[in-house]
Amino acid sequence: MKNKIVKILILLILLVSCSSPQELDTDETEVKFTYQVKENIIFTEGELIDFSDILVGNYDSYEIGSINETIGQHVLTVTLLKDGETKTIGVPYTIKDKTPTSNYYLKSLEFEGYELDPTFTKENDVYTVTIPRNLVSFTVNAETDDPFASITSGTGVVQNPGYDFEHHITITAEDKTEFYYLVFVRIDESESIMNGDIETWNGYDINYPNSQLATIRSDHLTLVNKQYRLQESYVPSDLVYVDEEYQVYGGAHLTRPAYDAYIEMRNAASGEGLNLKVSTCYRDYDFQRTLYTNYLSQDTQEVVDTYSARPGHSEHQLGTSCDFASGVLNIDDFTGTPEDYWMRDNAADFGFILRFPEDKTDITGYTYESWHYRYIGINDAQEMKRLGVTLEEYLDQ
Ligand code: DAL
Ligand code: ZN
Repeated sequence: MKNKIVKILILLILLVSCSSPQELDTDETEVKFTYQVKENIIFTEGELIDFSDILVGNYDSYEIGSINETIGQHVLTVTLLKDGETKTIGVPYTIKDKTPTSNYYLKSLEFEGYELDPTFTKENDVYTVTIPRNLVSFTVNAETDDPFASITSGTGVVQNPGYDFEHHITITAEDKTEFYYLVFVRIDESESIMNGDIETWNGYDINYPNSQLATIRSDHLTLVNKQYRLQESYVPSDLVYVDEEYQVYGGAHLTRPAYDAYIEMRNAASGEGLNLKVSTCYRDYDFQRTLYTNYLSQDTQEVVDTYSARPGHSEHQLGTSCDFASGVLNIDDFTGTPEDYWMRDNAADFGFILRFPEDKTDITGYTYESWHYRYIGINDAQEMKRLGVTLEEYLDQ
């Protein structure tokens, strides 16, 4: 046994001593550099130039020469180091133009895949565009015909174009470069885009089939009712969360002007010992669909339509209406409370109107809602109150 172990040991020693002369040959002086350089190294003028990952290989490290940051094609001198040896190579790279030498121009408009036929005019670098009256959002395509431009087209999106609104549009080009435009939007009242499909639920039409899309206005007078509806995608751009302590349920949002007016009104009411809380304010299309279809499972559609708006037809979607509550009570208990009487007398002075009055149900199409107020701005609210008219009559619709 001992003999056998000795034999194996001798065999192992022989094996090791046979292979070692080649591996321990340290006489080799010429170091072989193998490396691979990244292709198409391109940087944009003025942006970070980083050569840290431009090559891989069997070197220990590399040093780079001076960098030319001007626009054009250049060659970077790179010195590879390995075991004290060096090798110098040239690595081509390009610095490209940040912007085309001539400006982009705005070219076309699209809405959900439909090409619109806009009129663009440009004066002092401000574009004016005329669009159909009921666009909720649209895409602006920009192009340049500059033959030296490295990028030639881009797109930008305008949300809630509104009535005589100014918009800053960011156009993002193919290489992600961004350009900014000031665009003044005008509405062509006589033109409207297609009305879109009417949604159904369990066999019921849940929008009004003969309705039209509402005209979005920046003066707080957008009319939304059984005749005029908002598109599903309409979301006000300036929603503000109403302070928790003023809410009955939580989750209430209002547009910024409506919120500011509400706070003033609430403070005035508090000064008289009243508690003017809100129930729901902004409701998106989906929320309204859920409300409406829940009611449809309880009542006939004819009845539901007297107290609940179909989705798209509720002005809660505008973010300028609230159902008010007094103290911690529900909206249904609002009628006859001190807050209800105070609102009847004072809401207009803060820009709010009672939207569904008791004596106007034939015009509004809804039963009396003492709790539902809509913000339209102080001047119009006071004038409407003086005239004793509904929003439909005030806008002569
Ligand atoms: N209750 C009103 C009509 C709405 O649902 O908007
Ligand atoms: Zn309401």
